Amino acid sequence: MVTLKELHAFAVEQGIEQDPRDRKQIERLLEKRKEEYESLDGVREDRFDEDRLENPFDDSKILYGGDEDVSKLAVGIDMEPPELLLVDRLNEQGEGIDGVITHHPEGRSLARLHAVMGLQVDTLHGAGVPVSQAEAVVRPRVRDVKQGVHGINHPRTPKTAELLDLPLVSMHTITDNFAHQFVKEYLDEKDPYTLNELVDALLEVEEYQWALEHDMEPAIFVGDGENRVGNLAFDFTGGTELDKSRLEKMAQSGIDTIVAMHMSKDQIKESENQNINVVAAGHMSSDSLGMNLLLDEVQNEFDVDVMELSGFKRVER
Ligand SMILES: [Fe+2]
Ligand SMILES: [Fe+2]
Repeated sequence: MVTLKELHAFAVEQGIEQDPRDRKQIERLLEKRKEEYESLDGVREDRFDEDRLENPFDDSKILYGGDEDVSKLAVGIDMEPPELLLVDRLNEQGEGIDGVITHHPEGRSLARLHAVMGLQVDTLHGAGVPVSQAEAVVRPRVRDVKQGVHGINHPRTPKTAELLDLPLVSMHTITDNFAHQFVKEYLDEKDPYTLNELVDALLEVEEYQWALEHDMEPAIFVGDGENRVGNLAFDFTGGTELDKSRLEKMAQSGIDTIVAMHMSKDQIKESENQNINVVAAGHMSSDSLGMNLLLDEVQNEFDVDVMELSGFKRVER
């Protein structure tokens, strides 16, 4: 048996292992938080989220409950109030779901989405962008995202989970880290020469085959199919998209092709200007891939069943 809290702690450890940052950097970050916490007093100290002292993934949190044993998890990409009501309805019909995992963050894990973006300094650096240049594009964007999510109705989903008594956890950057590492290693090994070959390589992965059934398969957004792949960068993890000013720096640093889960119109246009090729691997399929890699580890360790819904496709490896 396992509780959602134990499962979350296990997932955090897994996420750290897959993280583009090294462990020392993550320990430094947690150490800094501890110092900040110790300097707090009054209401700020009382209401501090102590999970932050152990968990570097601010977008991956227990949002309701978590002390009870779970045996059947409903897993989805967006588990919002409508999905929670669906789970409750299924339980009325005898489904027996006792825990919920959402990939996209809700509640305070969405309110602190900006706090994971620092790791993009390391994904950029890993792709060849100097650290100074990477920090210059990541830092201002963190503040932007913080202000962007500030006004969202954050209590809504956790309160729905509480009223329906459905233990709820979000796992966002933890599993995006898995997807990032997997696709990076997979394409390094496959070593496709052209963009067309890269798309074909992705289509050997089961989640991307499933995407064909929903017309959301891997697609070339920028560049000709016969263009050479060259040096690759990956847009799979780190919270959310950076500012488009990153693309000029990436082009100057020798990046030829970006493989992304998805990309906004703004960035597609700027990639065209910078002559960087873009392959969109697919959003729900890539998010499913990351969730699947974590769930394989979870189900190896604990005896829990998984039900797929809300854009999540379970594939076991
Ligand atoms: Fe994701
Ligand atoms: Fe996503």
